[in-house]
Amino acid sequence: MQFRHLTLLGALPLTLAHGPPSPSTPQITQLFAYPPTNPIFLENLLTLPDSRLLLSSFSPSLLVYSPGSSTAPAPIFTFPNSTAYTGITSLSPTTFAITGGIQVGLGFDPSTIAVHLFSLPNGSSNPTLIKSIPVPFPLPNGLLALPCNKTVLLAAESLTGSLLRIDTATNTVTTILQSALIAPNQNFFLGINGLAVRPGRHFDGYLYFTVSSQGYFGRIRISSQGYIPAGSEIEVLAQIQGQVSGGNAFDDLDFDHTGRSVYVAWQGRRVVKLTEPKTAGQPWSQQVIVDGTEAVGLKGVTAVKLGKGRGGNRVLFATTGGLDETNTQVGGQLVRIDL
Ligand SMILES: *[C@@H]1O[C@H](CO)[C@@H](O)[C@H](O)[C@H]1NC(C)=O
Ligand SMILES: *[C@@H]1O[C@H](CO)[C@@H](O)[C@H](O)[C@H]1NC(C)=O
Ligand SMILES: *[C@@H]1O[C@H](CO)[C@@H](O)[C@H](O)[C@H]1NC(C)=O
Repeated sequence: MQFRHLTLLGALPLTLAHGPPSPSTPQITQLFAYPPTNPIFLENLLTLPDSRLLLSSFSPSLLVYSPGSSTAPAPIFTFPNSTAYTGITSLSPTTFAITGGIQVGLGFDPSTIAVHLFSLPNGSSNPTLIKSIPVPFPLPNGLLALPCNKTVLLAAESLTGSLLRIDTATNTVTTILQSALIAPNQNFFLGINGLAVRPGRHFDGYLYFTVSSQGYFGRIRISSQGYIPAGSEIEVLAQIQGQVSGGNAFDDLDFDHTGRSVYVAWQGRRVVKLTEPKTAGQPWSQQVIVDGTEAVGLKGVTAVKLGKGRGGNRVLFATTGGLDETNTQVGGQLVRIDL
């Protein structure tokens, strides 16, 4: 594996590659925030067919939130051996998977971590646990069902720098990629973090991902059954502006419906939209959607997902860990960004 495009990207000035930040200020609405007395860290989210949001957090239960309601996210299920959760993905409109375990230090006790498959009918708040598959790694983070075969899940393991293939038919977990190029480093303790594919018919045989520690958004080929074809290399598609640190790192991401642009949670307080260049081999252009100066601040953004707002317009939902500028835990937020 090589950084094929690193030289090219290394030549970019440390300003925006393609013009100034978005001239239109997005409207940011804080839908909910935990209070400093109960400062739950929100980690990830998924939009449901009925427009509710499933939330993973560093708390013992799966949460569900109805946009438009002013009430706190409701704890709806506590999975076995879990004090915290990370990745969440859908296998069908009513079947989901979430990784969780007992939080220890920067990750989990590997003897407790599992991916839990559950069903949740449209409109229901009563999940049914289907099965739990042990995933004995310290920090499975981003989680994604393969578009061509949702029996297979991919998990980004952030502490060992691995990509895991989880076969939910045979309950087997295999490392399909382990590389220094997706590992943590001295700048940041999280390596590979968010996983994504272009949606629907835009799927192009590539797995896209962020590597927090190394400040890039990249991709690698993935087969229809979730293996990396021999000879495949990691391609770096966009490099973060500035020096990577805990307060300057790419986190989770979501493609828009065209599959040509991807929104990336940019820790601590920003969101960037990366767009594919017209000419292959060029870096993806970067448009700062949230630059951290807005009236409603994102306190340590962890994930973004596109969804439908009232009236059906496209909005971006974001979760935050609830960390203020001094890194004090003040309570995770759920935020809507009107694009
Ligand atoms: C889910 O429920 C919502 C209303 O709550 C409805 O509009 C939608 O069509 C339902 N979706 C499916 C797939 O049943
Ligand atoms: C809970 O974790 C323990 C190890 O700490 C393990 O032996 C046990 O099988 C786990 N239980 C479940 C239901 O995953
Ligand atoms: C999907 O993956 C499962 C588990 O590896 C496998 O048994 C099944 O044959 C695959 N289905 C298709 C349609 O490829």
